[in-house]
Formats: sequence, C-alpha cells, structure tokens
Amino acid sequence: MNKKLIKEVKNSFKQTFKTKPLMVFSPGRINLIGEHTDYNDGFVFPAAINKGIALAIQKSKNKVSTVYALNKEETYQFSLDTVSPLENGGWRNYILGVVAEIKKRGIVLGNFNIVFAGNIPGGAGMSSSAALENSVVYGLNKLFKLGISKKEMILISQQAEHNYAGVKCGIMDQYASMFGVKKSALLLDCRTIKSKLYKINFGDYKLLLINTNVKHDLSESAYNDRREVCEKVSAKLNIKALRDATISDLDTIKSDITDEDYQKALYIIEENLRVKEFSKAIKADDIKQLGELLYKSHNGLSTQFKVSCKELDFLVDHTKNNPNILGARMMGGGFGGCTINLILKSEVKSFKKEISSLFKREFGKDCSIYNVKLSDGTQKIK
Ligand code: GLA
Repeated sequence: MNKKLIKEVKNSFKQTFKTKPLMVFSPGRINLIGEHTDYNDGFVFPAAINKGIALAIQKSKNKVSTVYALNKEETYQFSLDTVSPLENGGWRNYILGVVAEIKKRGIVLGNFNIVFAGNIPGGAGMSSSAALENSVVYGLNKLFKLGISKKEMILISQQAEHNYAGVKCGIMDQYASMFGVKKSALLLDCRTIKSKLYKINFGDYKLLLINTNVKHDLSESAYNDRREVCEKVSAKLNIKALRDATISDLDTIKSDITDEDYQKALYIIEENLRVKEFSKAIKADDIKQLGELLYKSHNGLSTQFKVSCKELDFLVDHTKNNPNILGARMMGGGFGGCTINLILKSEVKSFKKEISSLFKREFGKDCSIYNVKLSDGTQKIK
C-alpha cells in the first residue's frame, strides 16, 4: 500500500516540477499505553506504524516555495521571508511551522518544492500531523544538508505544532514517528527524551484499531485545558511536572484544589505507574495483565481525565463481555479517533462484523477497522 502511495507522490512531483525529487517516508504512530503523560514529563509507550506520509522534495530556483497536497489537490505558495501562521490553514500550518522553527535557529533555507500525500486517516489519533512535520523537517535537513540531529528535528516538529497549529502537545508523536523500529514499541521517558526498545509479540493476540470516525469540536482547546490543569497542580505541589508526584503528595493538597483537578492529576500519576507495569508485563509475557491495564487506562481517561466521548466508550464497553478481547482503550488525545484493542487473532473477523453493525445501529454511521504493523521511523526512501 505504501509502495503505491510513494509512487504516486514521486510521479506527481516529476510531472509538476520536472525534476527528480528526494523522497521521504514518515509514519504515524499508535500508543500502547501512557496517554496525556508526555507533557507531564512522564512515560509513554508508542510505536511507529506502516501508515504515514510520503513526501517528495527538491530545491527550487523560484522566488517562492511551492507545496502540493496530493490527497487534497491543493497547492500553496509562500515566500520564505514572510512566514506566519494562517487562520484555518490546515496542513499548510504544519509546513510553515517547521520552516519558521528552522529559521528561528538561525538557519538559512533556500526555496523548495514539495509534493506529499498520506494514508493515515485524519482525526484518527494516529498522528498524521507529526508525520507531516517530521517528513518536512527531515526532507529539508537532507536536501540542504543542515546537519540537524534527529532529536532536534522532533523538537522543531513539536514547536511547529505549538506555535502554528496551536496545540501544546507533548513529544510522544514526533518521537515515535522519527525513532520507531520495526516490530517494536518504545518505552519513552518524556523528560530525558530517551527510550527503551521492546520487541512486541503478543503471541495468539494482536492489536486492532477501531476508528469512531468522529473528531469532536473543541478537542484542541480541551487538550490545552488539560495541560493547563496539570501545570497548575504541579505548581501548587512545587514540582516541575506531575511525573514528580506520588499519590500521597497529591493528597497533601487535596483540599486546596477542586475535585475535578484532583481527579485529573490523580489520573496522570496512576497512568505513569500503569506504563511501568505494562512494560513489566511485556517482559513477563503476561498478556492478560496487559489487557487489564488497557481497561484501567481507559477508565481513567474517561471518568477522571475526561477526554473520551460516547463513541469511544461504546467501543470499549462492547469488548468487555467478549472473552476473546483482553483489553481496549481510547488512544491519543481523545474526543474521537480510535480505540486500541488486544484481540485473539482467530477472532478478528467475527468481531469486526459484530462491532461494525453494533456501531452503525447505535450511531447511524460506520466505524473503520485497521490492522497495523509496527514499523521503522522517518527515513529517506527511493
Ligand atoms: C496527542 C498529542 C501527544 C499526546 C497525546 C495524548 O496525540 O500530540 O503529545 O499528548 O495526544 O497522549
């Protein structure tokens, strides 16, 4: 599937710009567990997947840079001298944001042409935006031989998201998309930005994603709100981030904060502990325990941190009486997007049928179901 995507992007570039491009592939990601912990300097457990963005890039002699979004059939031209965020700019802001962040570091870029396309469903919580940012910064770095390290590249991508897309995200998505390794997940410490590699083999079980195909409004402002709450509670506790707090620390200020804020901070502390338990359960091949941790994570996201929605809760609830599914939870920022499910391989087909019709009956629209392979991170391709 990616081969076809890459070929289309390359051909489109050649046709449009009449030169041979440098090609980059940058993947989306899943996250096994550790949601909203990244911007609390905590732990996450993501992996890059075999869906992503293919990008073709080459230098241009023009006075402007040109980007063609092949999926949308939209072209955008801009001058490198006057880069600023666009209102409702969509994909354009990710490109402009990366360019602006590179410039901030005192690096002078030449003009360029880009064609890109992707196969990560938008709004699915699989980080199509991080994949796009990473593909652009990686492509520019190679093309102009800028000598930017991969670690700096992901910080550039993250800042692009903060300053041009307005989402104060953590580092998980950009990290996973850049550093992903085939058949593996990355236990990432978001304070040190260093990860440990875990080979993933769930035996008779596999991961299955179910997309609600909804993305509720306000998800971005709600995301930033959550971050603010976490920062407010850390400030009250006199610590750098909630990663540094224990439950008993939090209890010392319980009466000084609202119950809502208490629950949100408690969720973060507990989720960080779950990530560590999850990594131990992987080492111990304790698949049942993995499933239980997924359910607990979802429960926290839904009832304490309050970033789920009725469609996500419905999908998770309907796995609970199914003995072939060990665990499920919402994945990513929330308010829509996908659930991640740990399911017996032999039962995937019948479950797909069942959940598709239940979802349709309940919400009058289709959910989508994806198999994903854990894959390598952002790379130059032929
Ligand atoms: C989004 C953000 C990430 C992370 C997740 C929630 O994907 O971009 O930084 O906070 O939500 O875990």
